[in-house]
Amino acid sequence: MREIDNRRIVVATHNTGKLREMANLMAPFGFETTSAAEHDLPEPEETGTTFEENAYIKAHAAAHATGLPALADDSGLCVDALDGAPGVYTADWATLADGTRDFGIAMEKVEELLRAKGALKPEDRRGRFVAVLCLCFPDGEAEYYRGEAEGTLVWPPRGSLGFGYDPVFVPDGHRITFGEMSAEEKHGWKPGDEKALSHRARAFREFARARLGV
Ligand code: IMP
Repeated sequence: MREIDNRRIVVATHNTGKLREMANLMAPFGFETTSAAEHDLPEPEETGTTFEENAYIKAHAAAHATGLPALADDSGLCVDALDGAPGVYTADWATLADGTRDFGIAMEKVEELLRAKGALKPEDRRGRFVAVLCLCFPDGEAEYYRGEAEGTLVWPPRGSLGFGYDPVFVPDGHRITFGEMSAEEKHGWKPGDEKALSHRARAFREFARARLGV
């Protein structure tokens, strides 16, 4: 496997929450992480049609600009009865004309479409959150780590924890929504743990197994 020189990685995100999660994960392994903001990198347009493509666009832009390997993630919600929508457009469904985001409206849109399909029984309301991490080198060589969390869409929304579509998603094996779970219960994962619940934690676990040897 290709080495990461001097264990230096750019985390290609402008989202401070994602940056903290990734920096915390890698710090114990001697990785020095810097952010896209520290390198003054612009946010590239996410023009891909898959999570892999969008994660690559972000990671490659940062690696190319800095000359360092870069790690980026892309994520979203895929609903089976909606042929995988909103998918890579998960954030867009919440974006209003003035550029602000309202996830209440986005969750209502998913619900309306499910009702229009007559999807009222839990088994007809299956979906998954997906997260893809892309590690890209400055020459464009890339590797991918994918995590998925399967579950059922519920209505009305429940819980005020978490973010995005969390209040309408009950992960398999649980009775409460992501919006009713603590961050620790949803994302908590430590190197060496077998169990990881959220899609992002599962993608991290795959990255850590391959790259950090844990
Ligand atoms: P991106 O990965 O920054 O492109 O954003 C993906 C979108 O998916 C976010 O805006 C969230 O709305 C949604 N999303 C991703 N992961 C989660 C999650 O864990 N809970 C709720 N919503 C999520």
